Amino acid sequence: MTTTLTIIQPDDWHIHLRDGAALATTVPHAATSFNRVICMPNLTPPVKTAAQAISYRERIMQALADSDIDKARKAAFDPRMVLYLTDHTTASDIDDAVATGIISAVKLYPAGATTNSADGVTDILARAEVFDAMQKHGLPLLVHGEITRESIDIFDREKRFLDEVLQKIISTFAELRIVMEHITTADAADFCLAQGNHIAATITPQHLLFNRNHLLVGGVKPHYYCLPILKRAVHQKRLLEVATSGNPKFFLGTDSAPHATSTKEAACGCAGCYTATHALPLYAAAFESVDALDKLENFASVYGAKFYGLPTNTSTITLIKKPQTIAASYPYLETQTLTPLLAGETIAWQVAQ
Ligand code: NCD
Ligand code: ZN
Repeated sequence: MTTTLTIIQPDDWHIHLRDGAALATTVPHAATSFNRVICMPNLTPPVKTAAQAISYRERIMQALADSDIDKARKAAFDPRMVLYLTDHTTASDIDDAVATGIISAVKLYPAGATTNSADGVTDILARAEVFDAMQKHGLPLLVHGEITRESIDIFDREKRFLDEVLQKIISTFAELRIVMEHITTADAADFCLAQGNHIAATITPQHLLFNRNHLLVGGVKPHYYCLPILKRAVHQKRLLEVATSGNPKFFLGTDSAPHATSTKEAACGCAGCYTATHALPLYAAAFESVDALDKLENFASVYGAKFYGLPTNTSTITLIKKPQTIAASYPYLETQTLTPLLAGETIAWQVAQ
């Protein structure tokens, strides 16, 4: 007997669609599985103003219209935009963002933390007027939680951020709604649990399925490299526990982050795992590994919408426990290719056609 699992249509609360020609690949991939997607603003240049967010959303919607995915999926897809917080963002930028009705959050990248974060914030607590405005509007702050000082070990950067920065933001701005994005450690999971319900966290499929051995043992595997970097197995285990605990603080955010194959398989390879096409089967495998498939629907399709104050979707999606082989690559940026996480490998689940 085939195992199937029908759940409410999920949303992706953290995805990178990029811009320009990349949208022809990334948009149909995302729209096939997800209704609402929170589109990360780390473009070059970043999405810093309401006007830039509006025109970026228009380019995404054009790529959707030009794609050949089915009509129902086109109609359901709803990209939600994010403003990139810089040292120069003002309270009136926040007011303008809220007035658009399409901007759902503001993203904090500590300067230099990850891909295209050079314009990120250098002095986070100096952004008080912005955080006050966000509190007033109930607009969430999405946090890439890593300290970027060169002297800090890459495996400690998330924990140090909690202690040195996030704790201060939370105690100074007591009502600011915060999503700790793509958490990777037991420390971050437990930190989130210790806060009120206005603090939540997203978790990627790779951080539930893998640990740093997958990245480094037997040869460096660049397609497992993302930021924050995969940690020890004890952290993976704790993330799986909280993701499958039925606590609404933890919800789906794939952090699917495309980079052309040639820029990942390189002497200085880019950070980011591409999972938009098979994120749901990956999450299903992770939840099944701890016998918690019954917890997947709330994690994937309910808790995130609740946190963002949006209704849950009314359509459903069905997963089948039937092996699929992940594509070796996808066409990308006209002349390039995009290698997904687990390219060419077989995984246990697939989305029903
Ligand atoms: C992301 C990207 O490529 O934009 N990379 C990653 O490793 N996750 C940036 C990010 O979310 O940190
Ligand atoms: Zn990301």
